[in-house]
Amino acid sequence: MKQIYIDGHSGCNLEIYNNTILKTTVSDSYKHRLRKQCQKQKFFLKQKMSNIVIPEIISENWDNSVQKFGFSMQYFYANDFINFFESNSICYLKDKIRLIISFIEYNIATSKLTKINKQVFLKKYCDVKNTILNHRFYSDNTFKYIFDSFEEELYQLQNVLEIPIGQCHGDLTFSNILFLKNDIVLIDFLDNFLETPLQDIVKIRQDTKHKWSLLLIKKEYDEIKINLILDFFDSIIDNYFNKYKFYRTYYSIFAKINLMRIIPYVKQEKIFNYLIQEFKSL
Ligand SMILES: Nc1ncnc2c1ncn2[C@@H]1O[C@H](COP(=O)(O)OP(=O)(O)OP(=O)(O)O)[C@@H](O)[C@H]1O
Ligand SMILES: [Mg+2]
Repeated sequence: MKQIYIDGHSGCNLEIYNNTILKTTVSDSYKHRLRKQCQKQKFFLKQKMSNIVIPEIISENWDNSVQKFGFSMQYFYANDFINFFESNSICYLKDKIRLIISFIEYNIATSKLTKINKQVFLKKYCDVKNTILNHRFYSDNTFKYIFDSFEEELYQLQNVLEIPIGQCHGDLTFSNILFLKNDIVLIDFLDNFLETPLQDIVKIRQDTKHKWSLLLIKKEYDEIKINLILDFFDSIIDNYFNKYKFYRTYYSIFAKINLMRIIPYVKQEKIFNYLIQEFKSL
């Protein structure tokens, strides 16, 4: 049986055997996140949304007696976003962005608008700030700008925020969406400090507005075409969700905390500067 290994960014091992992909970790601490990922995937498998495909879970192993924790699922012979965007017409691609919007819209419809105390944000912000300060390798002035800007925006918000709480993918970037002729395949679900579909809008715009997944691409691609497509998608997404007050009011604070959470993982100065510039554009 042929076995193929894939490099992921989360530190998990991915192995393909025939039509099955096995995602595992040896880390006892990461096991819990991977298990939550598997649970979310099972939840969405039951939802049956048209043209949105979730890989079936084939087996799971969370037993401490075994060294590798994880699960196996269906493997899809699908395109990544770069291949798919490069080889299809914009009209055809628009249908795929509509599918992504319909996934988020479904989750908004099944969420409940919930009052969340600002302290929840403050706590998350303090955790993120501490992580950044522990990894600090760039000038304090840059961080001061980021922290001041965030704190000022948080201060301006009312004490209670009304946010749709419900199911969401959690890491809805293009690196976790695969493309088939008529369907999209969602993989790599993630738990979050607040389970809200707003997080998915922030994540997809991390790619359409901030072009984050492009920074991770190692192969050659048509930069002009891909950037134009992403800009076009970004305007569709932004215009679509603008009808929601929660989006208009809280997008920026969520997007800021999202970009701040990436900072500790950045190893190159060029990417770090890019992130700061994007933060300033919010
Ligand atoms: N069910 C699947 N069918 C086809 N390909 C898959 C499947 N699951 C994962 N892959 C491939 O493996 C890659 C990495 O998978 P995944 O995103 O789950 O890993 P990760 O290490 O958690 O994430 P990342 O690399 O996004 O940080 C995907 O981008 C995709 O190419
Ligand atoms: Mg992934």
